[in-house]
Amino acid sequence: PGFTVEAVAEIDSTNTELMRRARAGHTPPVLLVAERQTAGRGRLGRPWQSAQQGEEQGTASLTFSLGLPLAPREWAGLSLAVGVSVAESLDPTGAAKVALKWPNDLWVEDRKLAGILIETAMPHAGRADAPAPPRYLVIGIGINIGPREGDGMRTPPAWLRQWRPDATAPEVLAELAAPLVRSVQAFEAQGFGPFAERFAARDALRGRQVQLSDGSFGLCEGVAWGGELQVRTADGLQLVSSDEVSVRPS
Ligand code: BTN
Repeated sequence: PGFTVEAVAEIDSTNTELMRRARAGHTPPVLLVAERQTAGRGRLGRPWQSAQQGEEQGTASLTFSLGLPLAPREWAGLSLAVGVSVAESLDPTGAAKVALKWPNDLWVEDRKLAGILIETAMPHAGRADAPAPPRYLVIGIGINIGPREGDGMRTPPAWLRQWRPDATAPEVLAELAAPLVRSVQAFEAQGFGPFAERFAARDALRGRQVQLSDGSFGLCEGVAWGGELQVRTADGLQLVSSDEVSVRPS
């Protein structure tokens, strides 16, 4: 399907805007990109600070959201598939060491390069015996293009210009948008399966000691076929489906 691309100089948050439109009944396929966000949002209610304005436009960060109706059989693993697609676009050969930190941060040498925030607007209820109607999906992506201050993160972030000194936000968007749309469509048709090995190839946590939010520790054994994180703790193998997991400081 065709997408409209909309670019604005400033907005509160590209995710907030597409969710507002969806709640007002407006659910076309659209990609909304903003040069600046005044109230960018991250996962778990955290703010997503806009990077310092670069000297030239487009060198601070790339912030955009893709909105589209989607009706996969299973939702599990969608955010991982999105991470795989973005990581492969930014670092096709793996030379830049762009890794995936479950569930959907992009890391370079344990520093955060990009974050993904996926939200869905519920459809109007259909007939009970009808197949599930599509939900409107809003996939928000923020990528550090140039240097920025840490915003309360424990480690300073990574940025793309560390290995691509001339990269700009519009150029990066042009590279990753079409593969992202194709990946989301592949996910709708085939689920997480086609992405599982590609995630494993960039898994930042596998083989490392991690800490779960309840304080327990374990060895990360990678991602299961359903997209859950597998962690071997003192109580046995746990399948973690939504949690904040950190690398255990050594
Ligand atoms: C995270 O790291 O917790 C997710 C960060 C997601 C940031 C992007 S920037 C574009 C879109 N609009 C937002 O308000 N958030 C996402």
